[in-house]
Amino acid sequence: MPTLTGTISYIKNFIQDQDVAAIVPSSSFLVKRVCKWINFDEPAVIVEYGPGNGVFSKYILDNMTSDSTLILVESNPDFVETLEEMTAGDSRAIVVEERAERIEQILDDHGFDEVDYIVSGIPFSFLDEETRAELLRTTHDVLADDGKFLVYQYYNHLEEPLREYFADVTKEREYLNIPPTIRAYEACK
Ligand SMILES: C[S@@+](CC[C@H](N)C(=O)[O-])C[C@H]1O[C@@H](n2cnc3c(N)ncnc32)[C@H](O)[C@@H]1O
Repeated sequence: MPTLTGTISYIKNFIQDQDVAAIVPSSSFLVKRVCKWINFDEPAVIVEYGPGNGVFSKYILDNMTSDSTLILVESNPDFVETLEEMTAGDSRAIVVEERAERIEQILDDHGFDEVDYIVSGIPFSFLDEETRAELLRTTHDVLADDGKFLVYQYYNHLEEPLREYFADVTKEREYLNIPPTIRAYEACK
């Protein structure tokens, strides 16, 4: 359950940083809907784009194996501080203050050639067409052959581009979330 202080701090970041894009963190219903597509029985390298204050990250860390790795790529420095506090002492977590667009360099810096899952909550609709296409291409390229891109978005603008880059795309809706218009996609390579 999110704390009152956590929620207030999230709203403050929403007001100050347009890239935060949502007024409150994702609901536990959305977290479970998206994370059911992750096989937590197997060791995995998981990347999260835009973890915010860590609602997905906490669930993933609570469920992934002791030899898995979670790389958190967050552009907002306040959220990075929160994530660093949340993951302190957990050697499976790597927190990076960066933009998702630099994923290839980030993986290179940390010695990873490919990853098993990328979970993303960043607002793709805020990216220009070229940046969005480039991010989808690099996301596809850094995933292992059986890797998955798991993405949630408020608007129905990503389905078509996802289908251009990924072989198989499944879409679901989660109404128990603010806002309740959220779409969740499982995009397989
Ligand atoms: C809609 S919020 C989602 C936060 C959290 N994942 C959740 O579900 O509650 C979007 C998050 O993505 C971050 N963000 C936006 N654009 C980004 C980018 N290009 N690279 C990395 N993080 C980004 C924002 O700072 C914010 O934390």
